[in-house]
Amino acid sequence: MLSTAVSSVPWHEAVSIVGVIVLIPLVIFYLFPLDVWYHTFASWKKAFDDEKPNDINEYIHNSQELFKQGLSKVSNLPDDLTPWCDNGIKTILAPKFANEIAKSPILNFTKIIETEFHANVKGFSPFGELAKREDIFVDAVRIKLTQALEETSISLRNRWTDNEEWHDLSLKQSILEIVAQLSSRVFLGEKICRNPDWLRITVDYTVNAFQAGNKLRLWPELTRPVVAYFLSSTRKVQHQLREAERIIKPVSKGRPYDPAALQLTFSWVAIHTTSDMVTQAIYDLCERQELVEELRKEAISVVSSEGWKKSAMYKLQLMDSFLKESQRMKPISNVSMRRIVGKDFELSDGTNIPKGVQLMVSADWHWNSDFYENPLVFDPYRFLKMKQIPGRESHAHLVSPSPEHMGFGYGNHACPGRFFAVNEIKILLCHLLLKYDLKPAEGSVPTVLRYGVAMNSDPQAKISIRRRHEEIVLEEIS
Ligand code: HEM
Repeated sequence: MLSTAVSSVPWHEAVSIVGVIVLIPLVIFYLFPLDVWYHTFASWKKAFDDEKPNDINEYIHNSQELFKQGLSKVSNLPDDLTPWCDNGIKTILAPKFANEIAKSPILNFTKIIETEFHANVKGFSPFGELAKREDIFVDAVRIKLTQALEETSISLRNRWTDNEEWHDLSLKQSILEIVAQLSSRVFLGEKICRNPDWLRITVDYTVNAFQAGNKLRLWPELTRPVVAYFLSSTRKVQHQLREAERIIKPVSKGRPYDPAALQLTFSWVAIHTTSDMVTQAIYDLCERQELVEELRKEAISVVSSEGWKKSAMYKLQLMDSFLKESQRMKPISNVSMRRIVGKDFELSDGTNIPKGVQLMVSADWHWNSDFYENPLVFDPYRFLKMKQIPGRESHAHLVSPSPEHMGFGYGNHACPGRFFAVNEIKILLCHLLLKYDLKPAEGSVPTVLRYGVAMNSDPQAKISIRRRHEEIVLEEIS
């Protein structure tokens, strides 16, 4: 009967029926992005969360305490150090293993970034560029620091203005825009670095991609390339990548790499990290007017005698110490050295680490009294003093990573952009200190924003600034 009924339907009608059956759900899913459906099933997902060994919320809101408990236990890898994170199970190693991890060729950094940030999914290709193009980052920044100098005064003047009355400013957003502009000048030249659409994308893409990435992680790995077509957040990221291509392609013809993806990679490895560090340093400065005076004196003396040479950057020793202290107290993350294990291996204490494990090393020594006197007290002179201690002087420079200071990572994959970042930050601080008075805005108390292992400088807090008359005109110095 059934076969007679089916065979009586003409083939073209059968094709149309099947087409409609397939198309309707696709259209519905497209119109009502999966995030909406996802929330509908949130309670169902909760049931799965409850199965996990630790409460993911504990990891998200209190990872530092969670790891501290684990590190204080005798057993090698207690549950607290192999927690369920928002993106699967991770293994957190004590800082005493940093040296063993540092040089190991079987531990891969770029692979973990590709895995965590869905480099295979449409819209996320910038997260797959790191391995291919690290040499380009390093070459580009070696050549063009002087251009960053010129762009600093232009972008600072536009955003911080010449207003001599005290006025409030949302610090992080403004620093992001300034750093994006001067970094884009270095990488892309004068025209694009002042293109408002480009500046918007270069700042927003990373934030949006991180948010979309978090949502995507809630779906099984195999489904993500398809799910990405339906989530509103991932569609936004895909749209921004296309917009970036439209702006970048005309000015970068004939390059052997994907220029838009590369620039957006640069945005997340360089712009957000640098802005985060500068923002925190300025919050720290606002609370310490005496230090502002000392740093100003140093900047005037060094820049007027040395000009903007590399040697001047080196001689800004108090600034170097202050920045390193600011980064010690608040690095960008409470772990460092993210690696994926390529082959089974054994730590010196006999702990077996199987292939495929995702490792991170705790940055707990940043706040450890075995390495720092009064580790919870902010001492801008700390690393200046450390330079006088035989055996420790090499650890005291801002660009020198160590297991007790991993703000730029440590080992084979320690940040290759740190030399550029440090010079860029010092130039920017010289301009800020000489041209502006700074103080905390009334009622605004900056708080570190923690999410999982991330420690971000407050994105909302305001500071108060006013233009001052600088003692030396920085633009006239070469
Ligand atoms: C204050 C600014 C910056 C901070 C705090 C920072 C921090 C870091 C950290 C923590 C790592 C991981 C290191 C590890 O796992 O051992 C890293 C890697 C990296 N950073 Fe930076 N970074 C900054 C600026 C920059 C800049 C300006 C560039 C490029 C010009 C850059 C390019 C890179 C690259 C390419 C890697 C990957 C290294 C590899 O795969 O071996 N970073 N950075």
